[in-house]
Amino acid sequence: MIKIYAPASIGNINVGFDILGVAIKPIDGTLLGDIVTIKNSKKFNLIITGKFSYQLPKNIFKNIIWKAWKLFCKKIKKKINIKMILKKNMPIGSGLGSSACSIVSSLHAINIFCKKPLNNNQLLNLMGNLEGKISGSIHYDNVAPSYLGGMQLIINEMNIISQNIPTFKKWLWIIAWPGTKVSTEKSRSILPKKYKKNIFIKQNKYLASFIHASYTMQEKLAIKVLKDIIAEPYRINLLPKFKKSKKKIKKIGALKCGISGSGPSLFAICNNINTAKKIKKWLKKNYLQNKKGFVHICNLDIKGSRII
Ligand code: HSE
Repeated sequence: MIKIYAPASIGNINVGFDILGVAIKPIDGTLLGDIVTIKNSKKFNLIITGKFSYQLPKNIFKNIIWKAWKLFCKKIKKKINIKMILKKNMPIGSGLGSSACSIVSSLHAINIFCKKPLNNNQLLNLMGNLEGKISGSIHYDNVAPSYLGGMQLIINEMNIISQNIPTFKKWLWIIAWPGTKVSTEKSRSILPKKYKKNIFIKQNKYLASFIHASYTMQEKLAIKVLKDIIAEPYRINLLPKFKKSKKKIKKIGALKCGISGSGPSLFAICNNINTAKKIKKWLKKNYLQNKKGFVHICNLDIKGSRII
């Protein structure tokens, strides 16, 4: 038997649309991620449990876990007979890398169960492809951090899919899921097909400066350039409470605030636990739209996907 946990993640982190992401873990020990268990079986079998299992399609062939298994079998050219149990802890369409949690935990678990026929790069490649099939286009900014942990910059050149970036250890990451759903596909389709030259130059400057600031540990510079001029101005229309909330939590003391992945979750960064608690309290009261929503104060999950 093998049991794998893959953590939630924040894609984009404002400045790195599709190419920057972090894996997160709540400081109170909550397992914010999916768990896949694999057992021996005479034929393929899938069981789905967990708080958010009700959101998944009843048809097994539409399930991500089935797709992951199918893709893996095709890749290694062998039919693997296993029983897979998914514990779906993550809400889908939340902007917290829910599909990545399922993709990463299932492919990682199958690979270990089969005694690692695929190396890290091959496995990550498969994860990105599957994410692409589900959301409409390949992006690694959720699967890479969920699999590898920490902050990941997507390179996808010369056999390097992703690179670990140094992070500011004092930063606390607050995430708030309002309890509603935004489809990644839709959230991507509303973005412009083309951007103006001045946006392109600014965006290059911000991302390059953020990576530089991370390597040289210049916290103020990192925060200053952590801006989203690519997606937030358009996606804000899908998130009714975002603008007001951003203003308010910055007043409370957040260093930065943005849309987590394609939304509707919001993330904020601060470097003080008391401020983080105040932000959490405010978001709980004002950003959530129903009882299902949640707010967590998180650290980065350095380990990524792992055996539990
Ligand atoms: N980079 C992706 C997007 C993340 O913003 O569409 C999706 O969670």
